[in-house]
Amino acid sequence: MDKLVIRGGNPLLGTVRISGAKNAALPCMAAALLTDEPVILENIPQVRDIETTRKLLAAMGAEVELGYGRAHHRTTICARTLAAPEASYELVKTMRASTLVLGPLVARCGRARVSLPGGCAIGARPIDLHIKGLERLGAKITQEHGYVEATADRLKGAEIVFDKITVTGTEDLLMAATLADGETVMQNCAREPEVADLAALLNAMGARIQGAGTSTIRVKGVAQLHGARHRIIPDRIEAGTFIVAGALTGGDLNVAGCDPAHLTAILQKLAETGVKTAVKADSVRVMGDQPLQAADMNTEEYPGFPTDMQAQYMALATQAEGTSIVVENIFENRFMHAQELVRMGANIKIEGRRAIVRGGTPLSAAAVLASDLRASASLVLAALVADGETIIDRVYHLDRGYENIEEKLKLVGAEIRRVGDIFPKRAAAPARNSV
Ligand code: UD1
Repeated sequence: MDKLVIRGGNPLLGTVRISGAKNAALPCMAAALLTDEPVILENIPQVRDIETTRKLLAAMGAEVELGYGRAHHRTTICARTLAAPEASYELVKTMRASTLVLGPLVARCGRARVSLPGGCAIGARPIDLHIKGLERLGAKITQEHGYVEATADRLKGAEIVFDKITVTGTEDLLMAATLADGETVMQNCAREPEVADLAALLNAMGARIQGAGTSTIRVKGVAQLHGARHRIIPDRIEAGTFIVAGALTGGDLNVAGCDPAHLTAILQKLAETGVKTAVKADSVRVMGDQPLQAADMNTEEYPGFPTDMQAQYMALATQAEGTSIVVENIFENRFMHAQELVRMGANIKIEGRRAIVRGGTPLSAAAVLASDLRASASLVLAALVADGETIIDRVYHLDRGYENIEEKLKLVGAEIRRVGDIFPKRAAAPARNSV
């Protein structure tokens, strides 16, 4: 199993280019199931979750071409016929977002069979809200042998009020509603930019959606959708991770090809900690020449501070003067990185959903274990400022969502390399689904 070896101490200098957003690419790939014509997606990041989605769609009978060479970040998906509208446990267990195919499949094929995701590293993560919403749209749902089966002749537009804000739940039902008979009004929707990006693709495919990106979305159902070409938005979490890396290492880093409008909460919080940034239309330059100050942070749904940046923020808080209280409001068990940061010398105490980070403690290199995608990113950040050589195990988590992270970091001055097995074998937990 691959590991990353990072020698800390180098400031990050230069320009890093941000890839397309994994969390926008995944629902957009699922949306291609809604039509029998080709959907061309540009700016697709080359990460493991995209490959998992390719396998998922191909297993159903869709043709999925992932571009190589010059067509590098393009994928063409053609779901002409879908012989097996199913998502198996084997795929869903490694990527929970596989449940995004439930809505499109039942809308297009009148039936879907999707494995329940089960537990995951960062909490229970049920899909009850997806199921409830589909029932509102007239689908008949049964659950058996760990699978959800949904059937419907044609879905019918309805009013759906989400009990809780859910990103992929909003996306799943939005896709289903595009082909429903009549109008659907969805309330208490997720307002994430990835939802708006999906709606932009769906509208380009002939859907009639209004209000995506706000908490009320209206969809006028159409009889069928057609092919389209769409460019995926930049990854705001990758951008945020590199901005923190620039600040933490005392570097001067230009984070290019991002959308600063999607980074407002992150940039505001970093400004509170004393990080200086210069924002342009599609880039953020971070200048880490000031000492860092503690600042409390709560994760919230967009436009609040994203839970997907909580772990990275905690790495920064370990190096800020004073005490930062970090509250995780979205997932109940998302502090696994804290124990590993403590092993590197951080002073962090966990009390339920609160982490109390006493900052300003020097970090020293250690062998650490990545537990999920964003936790891995926080360990990379800590390693960049730790004294000595940190070895991060289970890098496959990182590969699910960060494109070429070691190449990108190396280009701006980090001392980082990927190695195969350098420890004697030990029992590794299977790759569970995570964010
Ligand atoms: C998405 C993102 C993930 C991010 C998360 C929160 C993708 C592929 N993943 O995950 O990176 O961390 O949003 O911003 O876009 N919930 C229920 N019932 C449901 C659905 C969700 O109770 O049916 C709960 C979850 O357990 C969680 C909260 O709602 O506590 C938010 O989860 P949700 O927004 O659905 O996360 P994901 O869409 O899975």
